[in-house]
Amino acid sequence: MRLSLIRPSDMHVHFRDGAMLRDVVPQTAAQFRRAVVMPNVPPIETADDARAYERKIREAAGDAAFRPLMTLKLTHRTTPAMIRDARDVAVAAKLYPAGVTTASHDGIGDPDDPGLLAVFEEMQRVGMILCIHGEAPDAFVLDREATYLDVVRRIVGRFPGLKVVMEHITTAASARYVEEEAPARIAATITVHHLVHTLDDVIGKGGIRPHHFCYPVPKRPEDLRALRRAAFHSTSGRIFFGSDTAPHPKGAKESACGCAGVYSAPVALPTLVELFLESGREDAIRRLEAFASTNGPRFYGLPVDESDTISLEDGPWTVPAEMGGVVPFRAGETIPWRVA
Ligand code: NCD
Ligand code: ZN
Repeated sequence: MRLSLIRPSDMHVHFRDGAMLRDVVPQTAAQFRRAVVMPNVPPIETADDARAYERKIREAAGDAAFRPLMTLKLTHRTTPAMIRDARDVAVAAKLYPAGVTTASHDGIGDPDDPGLLAVFEEMQRVGMILCIHGEAPDAFVLDREATYLDVVRRIVGRFPGLKVVMEHITTAASARYVEEEAPARIAATITVHHLVHTLDDVIGKGGIRPHHFCYPVPKRPEDLRALRRAAFHSTSGRIFFGSDTAPHPKGAKESACGCAGVYSAPVALPTLVELFLESGREDAIRRLEAFASTNGPRFYGLPVDESDTISLEDGPWTVPAEMGGVVPFRAGETIPWRVA
């Protein structure tokens, strides 16, 4: 069997730099129309950084149709002028609370800092989206996302024209906030691994699974159910796919202090097809199209070309144990769908 859908866009990726960038970019470029490129590794703080990084990604992609969408990393060094300068090259700027994840040591310490508020003001003025890694670094790990929701609410309340994407949500509370409480200019991404895992799949099933470890950590079964409900059934247009594909070398994950991040790009789309078909909906593939192909670009104000499609075919595919020194999501598993 073969099925076809509007070519998806991945609204949250980590491409890294150097040899790893050259290995991972083609995986995303081969499947996705666009990708929103996170600015943590290497750090992208200025318009010039973003332009140089975009050039490298385009070279590595080798496919002129693939469009990297660049973002800036917010620090306490960011100024309104830096936002203004970057308005033509960066679609968004990313708030990492300081110390919360990979390469965020110089992220935002004080979300109420007047300098930062001036930056948000300028983002609102020029129409730059704010992407938020919504975890409070000092809270207990399972409460981090719920705790930071208060900061998100405060930012949303202060800047009535600012568009906000809550990245990689992992809790029922976040899904409820976006769907039932927040204004229409607030959206959320959901990863594929957070549609599969609970914390049990990281530490609760006979051992520690370092390749399932990421921030925010997957939560409870009821959270997983709420995320699936949002991904499969939401009609708000404000829930969309961002893989958070985050490669780290095998040795850096299989370590006494292992890095956070799941490298999902090679299997994200086949896994989404599998999950949506399992949802039992007759219109599963059209729902997947909304989640992965149209909601994200539309929220970002980008056109959707319905004639640009991708095909998947059934027939077992065994995911490689390792790709360029990185262990992908579902490594070694034989899975039912593959990109044709
Ligand atoms: C990401 C990374 O490695 O860059 N890691 C992760 O666990 N998701 C950063 C991030 O998005 O938190
Ligand atoms: Zn990320």
